[in-house]
Amino acid sequence: MTTQETHIQSPDLVFPAGFAWGAATSAYQIEGAVSEDGRGTSIWDTFVRQPGRVVNGEHADVAIDHYHRYRDDVALMAELGLGAYRFSVSWPRIQPGGGGAANAKGVDFYSRLVDELLAKGIDPWVTLYHWDLPQALEDAGGWPSRDTAERFADYAALVHDALGDRVRNWSTVNEPWCAAFLGYASGEHAPGRREPAASLRAAHHLLLAHGLAVQAMRAQRSDSRIGGCVNLYAISPQTGSEADLDAARRIDGLQNRFFLDALLKGEYPADVLQDLGAMADFARDGDLAVISAPLDMLLINYYSRFTVSGVPGGAASAAAAPTDTGSPWVGSEHVSFVNAGRPVTAMGWEIDDSGLHEILLRLTREYPRIPLVISENGAAFDDVMTDGAVSDPERLAYIEAHLRTCHAAIEAGVPLEGYFAWSLMDNFEWAWGYGKRFGLVHVDYETQRRVPKESALWYADTIRRGGLSGPAE
Ligand code: FCB
Repeated sequence: MTTQETHIQSPDLVFPAGFAWGAATSAYQIEGAVSEDGRGTSIWDTFVRQPGRVVNGEHADVAIDHYHRYRDDVALMAELGLGAYRFSVSWPRIQPGGGGAANAKGVDFYSRLVDELLAKGIDPWVTLYHWDLPQALEDAGGWPSRDTAERFADYAALVHDALGDRVRNWSTVNEPWCAAFLGYASGEHAPGRREPAASLRAAHHLLLAHGLAVQAMRAQRSDSRIGGCVNLYAISPQTGSEADLDAARRIDGLQNRFFLDALLKGEYPADVLQDLGAMADFARDGDLAVISAPLDMLLINYYSRFTVSGVPGGAASAAAAPTDTGSPWVGSEHVSFVNAGRPVTAMGWEIDDSGLHEILLRLTREYPRIPLVISENGAAFDDVMTDGAVSDPERLAYIEAHLRTCHAAIEAGVPLEGYFAWSLMDNFEWAWGYGKRFGLVHVDYETQRRVPKESALWYADTIRRGGLSGPAE
């Protein structure tokens, strides 16, 4: 494999100067303080209270209390030597009812966080939407309603106006695929609706929201770097059969190309529209021009590869799919997800860094050239704390392998400018609650004590050296 060849030739893999070494989190997963300082209710506050939605009925009312502990958390980031920190702003803290003037106390929290980061030399990367829609907007129709996209642009302008003097790097909507299809098709994320046609309108409006927000932010100032953020998967057909190839086309179409083609080419893929038939009625004239306005970068979240078969219910493994409670794939009656036998994380997600390489090269080959950033990559494992320390060799190996892949991609000419580990700290993993730990830093949910895991110490060392060592042997 390419990565192996690379580290034999070059034992010290040095990343380009200016490469952003970061870690990421999101508001609802870490902040807690859900009723403080005028924060409104989000769809996740509502969803977690509905029986059966989250493992063990867990919620994020307190989460890891970052709202109160942000100074200590930033100090920890500084100790680890992070160059950049990607976090999201909670829409209901800024506009508790989903519209109108900004709630000053909400803005003030993020303003203080940004100042704290800058004081420690850490570059703040703001994500405007990581899934916590104000409940009032869901009550008015949610993402399937076009008006939500317009509301998002107003909100984006408020945040950009308040922080744009200090924050350079912005992204709009985190993973529109998840927000649309897990939220409105499979129903396993908030708001928990199972309405395939509405989920497609949601996907379109999330993209439109992105485009309208870019417009609004560009009108405010020209020195912000703005990107869209997508979760991409490498997709393999199980065999070369026509049915499996078609299954791979379908899944790649809805997971990857639907979003990439809209953002970077200003069109939806013709084959996907054809599959959707009458449901493909979501776009109005001019929308795709708004959605595809030039970006300064594309943020990519990468976790795994899917192997798919065109034999429904064939050798299917729920573990290989991003869900085990229902399929988010519109048209999924034609497809099953297959366990390809690779090692898996605690989420059941197959580990395959070659998928990241494939995606990065594909982007440079098939799409207009644009700076790329890995905005999430990481793994959950069942960590054990022993004598006050957490040894997590599997997570370390996962991150190391993916960083090697990043380096190989850069060598191959991919304009990759940064890497953000998911996640800085253990946190509330959506429908999975607190059972799935993705953090570089272990969090004791009783005491809120933070302890860097071995992977965090290794990552800190990697950042200090600006690259990776050759093989240990
Ligand atoms: C991504 C989400 C992030 C986290 C990771 C594991 O899809 O953006 O919040 O849940 O997966």
